[in-house]
Amino acid sequence: MMEAMEIERRLVLEVVRVTEQAALAASRFAGKGDKEAVDEAGTQAMRRVLNELPIRGTVVIGEGEMDEAPMLYIGEVLGQGGLEVDIAVDPVEGTTTAAKGLPNTVTVIALSEKGGLFHAPDMYMEKLIVPPPAAGLVDLTWPVSANLKALALALQRSVEDLVVVVLDRPRHERLIREIREAGARVKLISDGDVIAALAAAIRGTGVHAVMGIGGAPEGVLAAAALKCMGGQMWGRLTFRNNDERGRAAKAGITDLDRIYSRDEMVTQDVIFAATGVTDGSILAGIKREPGFLTTETILMRSKTGSVRRMTYRAPSH
Ligand code: FBP
Repeated sequence: MMEAMEIERRLVLEVVRVTEQAALAASRFAGKGDKEAVDEAGTQAMRRVLNELPIRGTVVIGEGEMDEAPMLYIGEVLGQGGLEVDIAVDPVEGTTTAAKGLPNTVTVIALSEKGGLFHAPDMYMEKLIVPPPAAGLVDLTWPVSANLKALALALQRSVEDLVVVVLDRPRHERLIREIREAGARVKLISDGDVIAALAAAIRGTGVHAVMGIGGAPEGVLAAAALKCMGGQMWGRLTFRNNDERGRAAKAGITDLDRIYSRDEMVTQDVIFAATGVTDGSILAGIKREPGFLTTETILMRSKTGSVRRMTYRAPSH
């Protein structure tokens, strides 16, 4: 038992290297207009470091199914052997923003005890994410205006002073209108709803909620971060066609309308880490100076509620 605990504690600090190295690798292509190159560099580096860890880790959220992704595919087993863990990764969350040199690109990992992460299929998820004081006071099935009222009450501010992050997509036209009609403000983002979830959970960021439809895998990563930070989240898979319904059914999902709470998406102790690639509201991006590079990482663990911010000065060769 003691031995297992030690492995876990050691693992928390080792996980930092995974997102750090992925961010360093991906940043070589930041601003160079090639999103595939960004993704490939991040993915390769992440896989290399994961393979060095004292784990027997199975990728449950990754770059795609085995036949469509050469690395970090769902089911890939990584590590030197040891503690059995499930791994969720987004080697570069915001490949387009990184390629364009825009803010808020990060590399992300969540690592849980075996069986601790929802195997979300690669499709969309409707999300509602709120800070800790509003946990339990809002509901994904309620009208937007009712949720905003409850959120305002929980945060002791007026609806007028609420800022809701929404992905800037045509599918959100109605949602955006409803938020504005209720009196709140919308912060549109071009990509990156995982880091937006962190912003909603951290006081003082000027973000009070995340609403709308984004990637389901990103939803599980957001749930992992929120489990560490105390924020709440609900997610419901949304299907664009029967093929997606079929894929969900194949993944063992029987109730297609089910609303998953944060703790239903992440059922066990989880470690979460994210490193900035480009500058963002939560994390600084990679800084290039003559002879060295600097990274910034947020590292958290749900069991202890610990949140670390770490900078790393890496020699550049
Ligand atoms: P990628 O890094 O894989 O491109 O994902 C970025 C992202 O913006 C996520 O943060 C978000 O959940 C998802 O894409 C939204 O999907 P779409 O761009 O199809 O609306």
